[in-house]
Amino acid sequence: MSEIIIRPRGPLRGTVRVSGAKNAALPILAASLLGTSNTLLHDIPPLSDVENMLEILRKLGCRISLPAEGSVEISAGHITSQEASFEDTARLRASFLVAGPLLARFGKCRIALPGGCKIGSRPVDLHLKGFAALGAAVSVRHGYVEAECPRLRGAGIYLDFPSVGATENIMMAASLADGQTVIENAAVEPEISDLATFLGRMGAQVRGAGTDTIKITGVPSLSGAEHTIIPDRIEAGTFMVAAAITGGGVQVKNIVPEHLKPLTAKMREMGVRIQETASAALVEAGEELFPTDIKTLPFPGFPTDMQSQLCALMTRAAGTGIITETVFENRFMYVEELKRMGADITIEGRAAVVKGKRPLMGTAVSATDLRAGAALVLAGLCAEGETRVQNADHIFRGYASLPEKLRRLGADIEVQHG
Ligand code: EPZ
Repeated sequence: MSEIIIRPRGPLRGTVRVSGAKNAALPILAASLLGTSNTLLHDIPPLSDVENMLEILRKLGCRISLPAEGSVEISAGHITSQEASFEDTARLRASFLVAGPLLARFGKCRIALPGGCKIGSRPVDLHLKGFAALGAAVSVRHGYVEAECPRLRGAGIYLDFPSVGATENIMMAASLADGQTVIENAAVEPEISDLATFLGRMGAQVRGAGTDTIKITGVPSLSGAEHTIIPDRIEAGTFMVAAAITGGGVQVKNIVPEHLKPLTAKMREMGVRIQETASAALVEAGEELFPTDIKTLPFPGFPTDMQSQLCALMTRAAGTGIITETVFENRFMYVEELKRMGADITIEGRAAVVKGKRPLMGTAVSATDLRAGAALVLAGLCAEGETRVQNADHIFRGYASLPEKLRRLGADIEVQHG
């Protein structure tokens, strides 16, 4: 596994461009399986998660080409398999998103149950409830989900939790079903809207994406389409924190301010100065960082994927803040690593009590997941001495060129590939 080595070098300054969103690219790559002709996608981030998804599409029979940097062309005209193995889903949980498209287009799929991961058990029961509601015979045998239905038919589906992945899988399956499907208590994350835009360009009839009620009227077939992926709001937020935690000033370009509202609001509460234009934000540290409390919630609440990064920032605040994690059951593993750097954080159930203004000292720490790893890099930017973030491959799953982008902002950071 690789290691990222950071030494403090004062305030970060300059401009950084945010890449396309990992969590929009992955479902849209899966959706390309629905198209009988070629799909051309732009601003696809160069991530190992994306490479793994492309490999799964190849195994299913897709022809993949890379016509330009950040662009991917997928031909799904000759799919030869409707299976994804445990090796596939263990390496990339989001590969489960190929289930809906395969079931809808070919009447069957056999996908290995994605295991849990460090942040929680990550069940797929809501995905399977949706497929069954659409008429599929669904069984779980020997660790594989098997779903079969010659022709799905529209249904009303209420999601017990506004699951992002379940909303995406059901939207894709319903796009080729007979009749209308209504998803209630649907996820409203921006990545859902981006998927709906792409499906619409393929010829699907999807209305209401971005609200908690999405209506899909099935059509007989879908074609490939051209689409540009929305910017990654979590990468953007990570750079905003990098500016604030080092006392610097950074222009973060290629953003959609609306997607960042919960984060921008919280950082302004902490005294960070943020000036927005239609597609950029100038983020400047204030004289002082004030404490705040955070509760993670489905969009438009505070994003769970920014929880660990904000915790790193809160260790610098002049006071105590409380973070409550409501989305995943085990997303504080990075706390032990921050405490090894000198942070004063106490876990009480689903809450972390963060006492600020303790000096952070560099040491060897371990990334447990990609957002936890990002938080440790952020802490290393302002810790005294050298910080070595181990298991850094987690970070490369979800951040395109994080070390290089931080280095261009003035950070002293290098990667040792293991
Ligand atoms: C997506 O995961 C993201 N991943 C996650 O980002 C993100 O943290 C999460 O949404 C929440 O915003 C991708 O989009 C590829 P969920 P997903 O289904 O779809 C429970 C990152 O760091 N649940 O909304 O798996 C589940 O256990 C990753 O980029 C069920 O109970 O999230 C969790 O507690 C991490 N049954 C909650 O819902 C189900 O069938 C949220 O899960 C599905 C989910």
